[in-house]
Amino acid sequence: MTQIYGIAAHPVAHSLSPQMQQAAFDALGLPARFERFDIAPEELGTFINRVRQEGICGLAVSLPLKEIIIPFLDEISETAKKIGAVNTVYWKGSCLCGENTDAPGFWEAVSYSLPKYSHIKAAVIGAGGASRAIVFALKEQGIAVSIFNRTIEKAKALAADFDGNAQTLDDFQASGFDLVVNATSVGLKSDLSPVLEPDWEGFAGVAFDAVFDPLQTRFLQDARAHGATIITGETMLLNQGIRQFEIWTGKNAPAEVMQEALSQTLTL
Ligand code: ATR
Repeated sequence: MTQIYGIAAHPVAHSLSPQMQQAAFDALGLPARFERFDIAPEELGTFINRVRQEGICGLAVSLPLKEIIIPFLDEISETAKKIGAVNTVYWKGSCLCGENTDAPGFWEAVSYSLPKYSHIKAAVIGAGGASRAIVFALKEQGIAVSIFNRTIEKAKALAADFDGNAQTLDDFQASGFDLVVNATSVGLKSDLSPVLEPDWEGFAGVAFDAVFDPLQTRFLQDARAHGATIITGETMLLNQGIRQFEIWTGKNAPAEVMQEALSQTLTL
C-alpha cells in the first residue's frame, strides 16, 4: 500500500521538499507519495487529528507551523525543545514525535569549510526563526556567536536564550569573524543584501546564506568579491531533508539523487 508523507506549511506551493523527498523514495523503490498540505495555523489541530487517523507516515513542517505544532505532538526531542521549533514529525510506535533537523542540517552545510582551530567566531545576521536553529547549532559546537539584527531587542532576546552577544545591524563588520551567516529573508527573490558591500572589507572567512532563491544572492556575491568562501543555502535544505528521510524510513538517504532533484528546480 502506498504510504503518505508530506510537507505542512502555509503557503506550501513554493516548497522544494516534495521534489527532493519524492526523488529519494523513488530511488529506493519505496511505495510512498510525498504530498503538499496547505494548513493555516487555525486548521493545525484538525490536521494533526487527520495525521493520526489516516496514519500519515511523516511530515516536514515549515512556516508558520514550526512553533505552534509543538503542543499537538506526544513527544519532542531535546534539540527541538531548545530551539522551540519542529520541522520533522515522525512516528515512534503509536507516539507522534517532533524533531528539528534544521540545526544539524545547517552545521553539516558549513562545518567542512570552517577552520579547524577551536576559537571560531561566527556572526549571525537576523533574529527570527531561522536564526534560532542556526545560533543553537553554533553554540552546540562551542562557537562564539554575535547576533546582528535590525531590531536590537530581538537580537538581545535570542542572545539571552543561547548565550550569544547581541548587536545592532548598523554595527556589523565582517572582518574578525570566521563565519558570517545571513539568516534574514533579505535577498529572497531580490538583489538586496542585509549587509552593505563595504562591510565585507578584510573578510577572508566563510559566508553562508540561508536564502536559496536565487542561489547566488547579493550577500554571497559581495562576500566572494572580497575573498570569502561561499556556501549556498540549498546545502542546508538538502542536509535537513536527508536527515528527515532517514528518520522517516530508517534507511540511508540517496543524497546525490536528492541534490540533483533540488538543483533541477533552483536558479543560479
Ligand atoms: P524567519 O522565521 O524566517 O527567520 P522572521 O521571524 O520574520 O522570519 O525573521 C526575519 C528576520 O529578517 C528578522 O531578523 C528581521 O529583522 P527584524 O527583527 O528587525 O524585523 C530580518 N529582516 C527582515 N527584513 C529585513 C530588512 N529589510 N533589513 C534587515 N533585516 C531584515
